Amino acid sequence: MKKSVLLVPALMLPMSAMPAMAQRPELPPVVQEWMSEGWQPRFMGMVAEGDSLFNNGSCTRCHGDNGTEGRWAPNLTDDEWVQSDGSLGGIFETIMWGVRRRDFHDPERRFQMNPNGGMNITWDQRRSLAAYIWSLTNVPRPGR
Ligand code: HEC
Repeated sequence: MKKSVLLVPALMLPMSAMPAMAQRPELPPVVQEWMSEGWQPRFMGMVAEGDSLFNNGSCTRCHGDNGTEGRWAPNLTDDEWVQSDGSLGGIFETIMWGVRRRDFHDPERRFQMNPNGGMNITWDQRRSLAAYIWSLTNVPRPGR
């Protein structure tokens, strides 16, 4: 009799462990780290800073308010990316280097985009601008 008492918990273990795993998948360590460090509020802070830089700076002259009404430059709120893959890093690089005339996707454009859109910005501000533009298509906004 003693033996079977020991055996029962050993047999129960895999069965009880399985449903628990299905319900709560392990998050990758890096994601757990971000969450515990409060990355989301920080990222949204960058988006807010980028919003202000974009809409109070030179960008709107070509891309329109909120990047929507580009007369001289592409709409930045649609899913179409012509200068990069539309990733955070891709957008960051486009801002850093600008777009020379010979690299235009649309040859009808008139004015080339200078590095940083002609603005005098820091590395962090450029990151915020990229976060803002990335968020336009990747972060749901109320009322859109
Ligand atoms: C003088 C006009 C002008 C200004 C100012 C300007 N841009 Fe641009 N931008 C362009 C043009 C032109 C293109 C590329 C058009 C093409 O490829 O046909 C472009 C492309 C881009 C792209 C790539 C879009 C895509 O679909 O891949 C991003 C991102 C961008 N601009 C961000 C900015 C930001 C941020 C600012 C302000 C710091 C800014 N631009 C200021 C003219 C401008």
